[in-house]
Amino acid sequence: MRILFVTPEAFPLIKTGGLADVSGALPASMKRLGHDIRILIPGYPTVLKKIINSSFLCTLYNIPSIEAVNILIGEMPDTGVPVMAIQSDLLYDRPSGPYGDENGKDWDDNAIRFGILSFVAARLSREDSPMKDWIPDLVHCNDWQTGLVPAYLHFMRHDHPKIKQAKSLFSIHNMAFQGCHTPQWLGPLNLPAKSFQIEGLEYYGQLSFLKAGIFYADGLSTVSPTYSKEIQKKEYGFGLQELLTKRGNEIHGILNGFDTKEWNPATDKYLEYHYNDKKIAGKAKVKNALLAKLGLTIHAKTPLLGVISRLTYQKGLDMLLECAETLIEHHHCQLAILGSGEKSFEQSFQNLAKKFPEQVSTNIEYNEELSHKIMAGSDIFIMPSRFEPCGLNQMYGLRYGTPPVVSNTGGLADSIVDSNEVTIGNDTATGFVMPEINTYQLLAATRRAINSFHDETTWKKIQTNGMRQNLDWSNSAQRYVEMYEEILNK
Ligand code: ADP
Ligand code: GLC
Repeated sequence: MRILFVTPEAFPLIKTGGLADVSGALPASMKRLGHDIRILIPGYPTVLKKIINSSFLCTLYNIPSIEAVNILIGEMPDTGVPVMAIQSDLLYDRPSGPYGDENGKDWDDNAIRFGILSFVAARLSREDSPMKDWIPDLVHCNDWQTGLVPAYLHFMRHDHPKIKQAKSLFSIHNMAFQGCHTPQWLGPLNLPAKSFQIEGLEYYGQLSFLKAGIFYADGLSTVSPTYSKEIQKKEYGFGLQELLTKRGNEIHGILNGFDTKEWNPATDKYLEYHYNDKKIAGKAKVKNALLAKLGLTIHAKTPLLGVISRLTYQKGLDMLLECAETLIEHHHCQLAILGSGEKSFEQSFQNLAKKFPEQVSTNIEYNEELSHKIMAGSDIFIMPSRFEPCGLNQMYGLRYGTPPVVSNTGGLADSIVDSNEVTIGNDTATGFVMPEINTYQLLAATRRAINSFHDETTWKKIQTNGMRQNLDWSNSAQRYVEMYEEILNK
């Protein structure tokens, strides 16, 4: 199959979260399965710098609001997956992150920046594309930034029904990010005014890119089986639950895998010491090196709780803040925090570190190397998300012998088996699941984790159960292939 994989971020070119990890690893898996897949991504400066062997491919004209863009083609570092980047200094040559400035404020013209990503993807997915020798069978869209691809394909087919075009799949990685913009953007984006209605792009008076994807795509998926059901309910649907329920039978929930070469404690390039499920002793050395680096006191018997996260409401870390002092003072824990996001969370974690300088290290930054060191050096990983479409960190926790404490939602529910007598007895326990999402349950689940940590035999069992899970992309990539085929045969 020929697949165009459209994404606003892909590791290692550019990353703000799990979508980048997926966009780096899933296409590589598809390539290994023998499919002809290409990534399409905005040409941010870092992307243009990191693509290997890039060269000019073609120019696309008649782009809404701007005359033309150039498309470059090159390869992803390491995996060699072909990647096409849209070169437009006007749209993408900006300092700081892909979505906003250094203070986290979204760029005012994100509607155009990602509308054009979508428009270009649609144009490249039709027989009249200037890239004549490579027309995809299917265009795989990811999150709101690509939500207009299915919409543009729908309108283009309407205007020129005889021209063959690709089918579309829209994958939802997070319903919380909707890409809502004022309807004034309809004109600049060349979107038909009549599409701005309930049966179309309109969402509470706004133009919603996420809704566009969900409404117009030929196929829909999300990143875990549990989340595929949750988003059809009011609590998780962000106002789109009815639309999702209408298409409920079509939504495939496929759990993400991850890049097990990048995330492997036996070979991790960021670690001084290595370990695996058979020889786990090296983990203690990694922990000591981490404690020393972070300036925390070293006590072998003190559990180190790790957090690597966007600091937002979704991730539920306000609950950790509420019980942190109890964990430190009564349960003798240490905490290693890495993350950034809402200022109030950043401040509170910094205050905690000031109050307990030997127990708590707060690092407000995005730091790939430190994320690997904390994942490997911590004993327990804390992830009490209020909702979690899939979540990758809990899976990295499994792989690194750092059993996670998680809430019972989305991909967390689908990837972690709670430890109890039965699951420890039959060697399936991999972590600690909070039955409900509140501070009390977080404290209770973390306490259970700490008790198990102090029981060496049980702990080793839980660690190795997790480390032996097959978490690479092979199974899930095969499921995507089956879904692609289903959409093409519709
Ligand atoms: P989400 O995409 O919702 O943020 P995931 O668990 O799916 O959550 O993926 C988050 C990814 O981003 C993981 O690879 C995680 O290690 C990484 N990450 C999050 N915050 C940081 C940070 N401050 N520094 C380095 N990596 C981070
Ligand atoms: C989103 C979700 C996260 C998921 C990731 C990759 O960022 O918040 O749960 O793992 O996408 O699919």
